[in-house]
Amino acid sequence: MLTFENPAISIQNVTKIFGEQTVLNELNFDIERNKITTILGFSGAGKSTLLKHILGIMNPTSGVVSVLGQDLSKLDKMELREFRRNFGMLFQYAALFDSFTAQENVAFPLKEFTKLKESEITEKVKDLLISVGIKEESFDRLPSELSGGMRKRVGLARGLALSPHIMLYDEPTTGLDPITTKMVNNLIVETATQHKDREMTSVIISHDVRATLEISDYVAFLDRGKIIEYLPVEEFKKSDKELVQEFLNL
Ligand SMILES: Nc1ncnc2c1ncn2[C@@H]1O[C@H](COP(=O)(O)OP(=O)(O)OP(=O)(O)O)[C@@H](O)[C@H]1O
Ligand SMILES: [Mg+2]
Repeated sequence: MLTFENPAISIQNVTKIFGEQTVLNELNFDIERNKITTILGFSGAGKSTLLKHILGIMNPTSGVVSVLGQDLSKLDKMELREFRRNFGMLFQYAALFDSFTAQENVAFPLKEFTKLKESEITEKVKDLLISVGIKEESFDRLPSELSGGMRKRVGLARGLALSPHIMLYDEPTTGLDPITTKMVNNLIVETATQHKDREMTSVIISHDVRATLEISDYVAFLDRGKIIEYLPVEEFKKSDKELVQEFLNL
């Protein structure tokens, strides 16, 4: 059973060891529900590893990961697969299927995970695409026929298809031009706002500091498997941690 109370995600004393390398080190970290939280950190800090623990793709060596009140280690394979419906993901390059049109891409999770009828799927896909600002004339375009910004929109629509309670954004603005960055940022905020009434917690993993600070409620800084700073965004900017300031001034 899902519980909608704080925190949405709770990482309790999580350690992850690969061979001799400790990548997450007795990590304690709670993510508040219905907020936008960004996790920053240098390359190799353990961000993607942390994300995989939140998704239950990876198990901790020790410690507990709970999402919406559910201890992930208590779920078997099938239950975990079902549980992942609570997550939506937007990847760095949107990760669309190249040979599927925009609407086929968005329809994919609905065909895979729901028993909706063809006509219901068509209707839902249309609503989703419109809600992220894709016009009908582009519904039948392939990803290669869409701009980078439009691909992000389609990727987001697909991420939202199963009405997730947690949206995970992996480097959503890295490599984008300033205008598209702004558009993607607006989209993240709009999505969080639009879906707040039915629970929507947003987690962004990024090293694009400037882009994410504008839209985050909370910012955490991960360094060598530990969260060394975690504050509301305005306080985070004034952090007295040397490493954080170094990162902010890059
Ligand atoms: N499956 C794995 N097996 C062994 N080592 C791994 C595995 N996954 C990650 N690592 C190691 O864990 C460390 C952290 O990797 P991770 O991908 O989490 O970093 P990151 O913060 O996401 O970096 P980046 O910003 O470059 O994406 C790295 O040293 C990496 O080599
Ligand atoms: Mg990574």
